[in-house]
Amino acid sequence: MKCRRCRAPAVVDVRRHNAAFCRECFLRHVREQVRRAIDDHDMLQPGDRVLVAISGGKDSLAAWDVLRELGYDADGLYLGLGIGSYSDESSRYAHEYASRHGLTLHSVDLARDYGYDVPGAAVATRRAPCGACGLSKRHLFNEVALERGYDAVATGHNLDDEAAVLLGNVLRWETAYLGRQHPVLPAAEGFVRKIKPLVRLGERETAAYCVLSRIDYIVEECPMAAGNRHLGYKELLNELEDRSPGSKAAFLLGYFERAHSRFAGDAASERAHLRPCPECGAPTTGDICAFCSLRARATVGDEAAVELVARRTARGRSSGRSARRATAPAPPGAPTGAG
Ligand code: FES
Ligand code: ZN
Repeated sequence: MKCRRCRAPAVVDVRRHNAAFCRECFLRHVREQVRRAIDDHDMLQPGDRVLVAISGGKDSLAAWDVLRELGYDADGLYLGLGIGSYSDESSRYAHEYASRHGLTLHSVDLARDYGYDVPGAAVATRRAPCGACGLSKRHLFNEVALERGYDAVATGHNLDDEAAVLLGNVLRWETAYLGRQHPVLPAAEGFVRKIKPLVRLGERETAAYCVLSRIDYIVEECPMAAGNRHLGYKELLNELEDRSPGSKAAFLLGYFERAHSRFAGDAASERAHLRPCPECGAPTTGDICAFCSLRARATVGDEAAVELVARRTARGRSSGRSARRATAPAPPGAPTGAG
């Protein structure tokens, strides 16, 4: 196998493109795909400050690495979820990457800062852990980005993740979620811009990028995601891709090009009904936002935690920053990970 660009011996093949690449040309291919996603969807402007949601996995670390390689001003944010040794390990990989490259990695810990963790919240709400996890991530990535003046939050969602979400949304004709499923969600009152610069790359490509760039990442999947509906959709799409390479990209990228705009109005009309959460100021359609409701349920009976939350809430109010906080409405089936 020879590299498509330079004819040197190839080290990785990309069936979707019917191509193989040597190390240098593959890294260039990955950067090129990210640059194209950013340009096609107007994700970033020169001088924008980006906050990358870092999980310690291959996708988020690849996203951070490529954004820096492309010259963007990108810091990281790690969120401690309290999922036992999985969280300890993923935190170690995230912090190691940041310190090796001398980068800023902000850190929020659910138990330390908000008085609950994902396993506890799942028990308290009797819902799948991924629901509490995704909700906490969306709220806190947005909140930290607003408080610290970032222009955009970047997540490591890749082509496989997004194709699986799209399949789930289409199977149920979730029109508001379809309207919101896009590589860039513009900023709005209480919401920072959200971008997904890896949408043109499959997870095999992001894994190969990390290996070839010598980025160590947590290989183990989150133990709480087992049985998750989206993993099933991913398996189905992988079978399809095996039989017909390129199907996943055609499904997802074709949706962005030709169908997304038909659903954009459904998402916009939902946003028209948002008002500030009385607890934290995040835009919500409910009496209080989903994050404050989750936090209240997950900390019931834990007096120390409730006190901690009350103190934080009071501090947030008195600082005058809370009105800018936000919780994005939650696509129930959306992947929760930052990769
Ligand atoms: Fe969120 Fe596993 S439940 S990473
Ligand atoms: Zn709230």
